[in-house]
Amino acid sequence: MTIIQEKTLSALTRPDFPILNQTIHDKPLVYLDNAATSQKPIAVLDAIEHYYRYDNANVHRGVHTLSSRATDAYEGARDKVAAFVNAASRQEIVYTRNASEAINLVAYSWALNTLKQGDEIVLSVMEHHSNLVPWQIIAGRTGAVLKHVELTETEEFDFEQFKSLLSDKTKLVSVVHVSNTLGCINPVKEICAEAHKVGARVLIDACQSVPHMPIDVQEIDCDWLVASGHKMCAPTGIGFLYGKLDLLRSQPPFMGGGEMIADVFLDHSTYADLPHKFEAGTPAIGEAIALGAAVDYLTNIGMDRIHAYEEELTDYLFRQLATIPELRLYGPKPNADGSGRAALASFTAGDVHPHDLSTILDQAGVAIRAGHHCTQPLHRYLKAQSTARASLYFYNTREEIDVFIVALKDAVEFFGSIFG
Ligand SMILES: Cc1ncc(COP(=O)(O)O)c(C=O)c1O
Repeated sequence: MTIIQEKTLSALTRPDFPILNQTIHDKPLVYLDNAATSQKPIAVLDAIEHYYRYDNANVHRGVHTLSSRATDAYEGARDKVAAFVNAASRQEIVYTRNASEAINLVAYSWALNTLKQGDEIVLSVMEHHSNLVPWQIIAGRTGAVLKHVELTETEEFDFEQFKSLLSDKTKLVSVVHVSNTLGCINPVKEICAEAHKVGARVLIDACQSVPHMPIDVQEIDCDWLVASGHKMCAPTGIGFLYGKLDLLRSQPPFMGGGEMIADVFLDHSTYADLPHKFEAGTPAIGEAIALGAAVDYLTNIGMDRIHAYEEELTDYLFRQLATIPELRLYGPKPNADGSGRAALASFTAGDVHPHDLSTILDQAGVAIRAGHHCTQPLHRYLKAQSTARASLYFYNTREEIDVFIVALKDAVEFFGSIFG
């Protein structure tokens, strides 16, 4: 992609995000915390407002016009999500509150009922807490054993070690596609192929990939995949689980209540067909509709284009970070063209606490995150108490990276003069 195209993408999308057009401490806001949550375009804000202003009614239960409008929009959004990740059927998309809930759905509905003493669950040391804690609970309840893939020297998923962990005891592999801390892109297609050879199921945590690159669940051949709407231009409170149809059919419900039943008797019930079997109670209707609007928005830009532009930004970001020798950067280096890793950088600067860096950068209008990014075991593994993280999206510009780098240099110099 040329710089002219880059400017076009930026110029194209920037006006859609009014929140970015403000000052923080009298400086233009530079929002580099997109891995935590993305900003929302006007199309998404309008979609949720339109629902509450004109169509607000409960879904599925009514025959009146508002209810059928709400139901059509809610179910229409499901079609959009299904197409976005190339699911074979709309029934394979279950709305959840977020990715964490989607993982818990699989943990409680499938794993708790399937795993036995001595079965093995393979995770990795780079997993988000959302993809660690549910499995710890399940292991505690079933007697299953947790195994963890470690990192290579370049701080990436160790595929060889992964293969060595697999055996006929492995019943589940649950790994992240793109690490929210290391930024590495894991070979999920190959991971699924290897796991399936030993008969294990695979769950992919795609929170940091679905918003940034084209995803094809059929090509990956994962059994389940989870993502959160709020990281892909949609509101909070809505995410989704993709699951293979036969597998989802075989799973018992996760929660009971209205919407998920076919018939209810006093002593037993029969359940609705997919995906409603897993959607107990009144769902986040406006949020789901807005997720559909976010999918439309991203699709109109083109996920290939977003990915290519982010590679350009990654290249630029890492070149600029390399001009600050005090930094320790985590995860793999990008390839010469910026490909091979996500558009985020986690770093430390000597003994300076990442929270202090983040606070100083905030004074310059730059929003970055500091902490363990919900990957505490990974931080322990890397012997880092916490890190600072700058994470980009398609509406960020090179000029913003420049502002960030200047502010970061100032902060590192300032703390260097204090700590000597
Ligand atoms: C890789 C990864 N997995 C899971 C999650 C959890 O997402 P949520 O809090 O929306 O459930 C996140 C959020 O930061 C993430 O980055």
